[in-house]
Amino acid sequence: MAAILSRPATALLLVALYLLMCAAVWWRHRRRLRQAADAAAALLPAAGAGPPVLVLHASQTGQAEEIAWQTARALHLAGMPVRVAALGEIDRDALRGARHALFIASTYGEGDAPDSAAPFARDLMSADGSALDLSSLEIGVLALGDSTYTHYCGFGRALDAWLRERGARPMFDRIESDRADEHALAQWRQRLSHFAGTADLAEWETPVFTPWRLRARRHLNPGSQGGPVFHLELTPADGSPLPAWEAGDLVQVCVEVDRDAGADNDAQRPREYTIASLPSDGCVELMVRRTTREDGTPGLSSGWLTGGLPLDGTVAMRLRAHASFRIGANADRRLILVGNGTGLAGLRAHLKARAAIRRDTMATTNAPAWLLFGERQSAHDAHYRDEIDTWQRDGLIAHADWAFSRDPAGRVHVQHLLERHAQRLREWIADGAALYVCGSLQGMAGAVDAVLRETLGDADVDGLIRDGRYRRDVY
Ligand SMILES: Cc1cc2nc3c(=O)[nH]c(=O)nc-3n(C[C@H](O)[C@H](O)[C@H](O)COP(=O)(O)OP(=O)(O)OC[C@H]3O[C@@H](n4cnc5c(N)ncnc54)[C@H](O)[C@@H]3O)c2cc1C
Ligand SMILES: Cc1cc2nc3c(=O)[nH]c(=O)nc-3n(C[C@H](O)[C@H](O)[C@H](O)COP(=O)(O)O)c2cc1C
Repeated sequence: MAAILSRPATALLLVALYLLMCAAVWWRHRRRLRQAADAAAALLPAAGAGPPVLVLHASQTGQAEEIAWQTARALHLAGMPVRVAALGEIDRDALRGARHALFIASTYGEGDAPDSAAPFARDLMSADGSALDLSSLEIGVLALGDSTYTHYCGFGRALDAWLRERGARPMFDRIESDRADEHALAQWRQRLSHFAGTADLAEWETPVFTPWRLRARRHLNPGSQGGPVFHLELTPADGSPLPAWEAGDLVQVCVEVDRDAGADNDAQRPREYTIASLPSDGCVELMVRRTTREDGTPGLSSGWLTGGLPLDGTVAMRLRAHASFRIGANADRRLILVGNGTGLAGLRAHLKARAAIRRDTMATTNAPAWLLFGERQSAHDAHYRDEIDTWQRDGLIAHADWAFSRDPAGRVHVQHLLERHAQRLREWIADGAALYVCGSLQGMAGAVDAVLRETLGDADVDGLIRDGRYRRDVY
């Protein structure tokens, strides 16, 4: 077209196209902000309705947060004023000023608080919070956990004990939910119904799993000493359009098991996988490592996804927003992306989102990313290397540092790379960078956290968590 238009006309056309795309990106951003504001405004109390019931969540991967919102909606429909917040956003005055507070708290690490609640656990639940008088507060606690961990519901229990020690009065005994079991959730709804003084508290939707079709599967690391990792592509089986999601979100997969063959309840539990793609890719892409159980058999869900499930076969799946691993307010910040193994999935989705913004706005630069990725052998486990090299050539990635623990050069892990580049780390953080960590909790996330604290100091790392500039998707 440029050939048949004069130069000024071509320039004008390009400027108009550029402005149109900027407007589209701005409009999408505004719409997202408006949706968030609408969700909060829908729960605002009517004037003079008294202090709202605090519905506070301590969540890592979103289950506790999802239950908090369902709780709040049900109470709101029953006519009660409510305020939903992350526990980490709450200070002593907010607690002292409230009359009723409901806590939905999951547990991570080894009985620890989820990241978003870590500053609350450290600052308020430490000795420093001992002077707090909560005797005018009535509370309810739902603790989420998994009884296969040693410190079952550790944080929910500690929180409950701490509240009671400060005089808070329980409206009912703490409820503990083992792997989101339905019985405990039904009990929670029943207690809420009693609290709201209504027999017909609005039902909340149980998660809907729908069939998704496996369109493609590729073995990413043949020959590796590590467990086999696969790239999967899935679309809705009924041909319906892809649902919306953002970089950072997860899917939950529910593999059908033959109960008659002696499968226990645990087998029915959905498994999470971090999405490695964006809706604009036209499918949900996952990176799944086939795990091997102690008896040598493959893990139930990863074994099915990487082997049992035939191409074009279907699997029950649903998308889950993972608010605490999304880009949120970090859209314009530099990104430090740290991960290992299948943790690359979440980092890849964030890099794709950055690339998409560049494409949509025709910008030649945006805040750069620094990728630190660890695996076993460079010859086999440099997943998506071509893509990463291209992003680096395009300037989207300023530095890509690879750590291969089984290469002849010696054992190097991502935490060692961070240590080696401590000066750059300090500079990027001083420049406003946000940190995203995705992959193994054991061996990686803890060691990375330790290097961060050593390099930046506890106070700064806690500040980053509080500001949403240190986010993790670790498992
Ligand atoms: C937030 C989050 C994100 C995740 N993202 C990813 C991702 O992107 N990619 C990915 O590959 N994984 C991811 N995972 C891990 C994934 O959800 C599964 O935990 C993993 O695939 C193993 O599940 P499985 O059903 O295959 O194994 P399971 O059958 O549940 O077994 C898992 C392990 O538990 C032990 N085990 C359990 N039951 C038995 C038994 N009966 N006998 C012997 N041993 C047993 C074994 O050690 C085994 O290796 C993520 C997890 C979380 C929480
Ligand atoms: C890496 C990891 C560590 C966990 N550690 C514990 C634990 O120590 N104790 C426990 O009861 N549950 C533990 N859990 C289970 C979670 O608390 C449980 O899955 C919860 O429902 C997650 O809720 P969320 O999505 O709100 O974070 C752990 C889960 C993961 C993935």
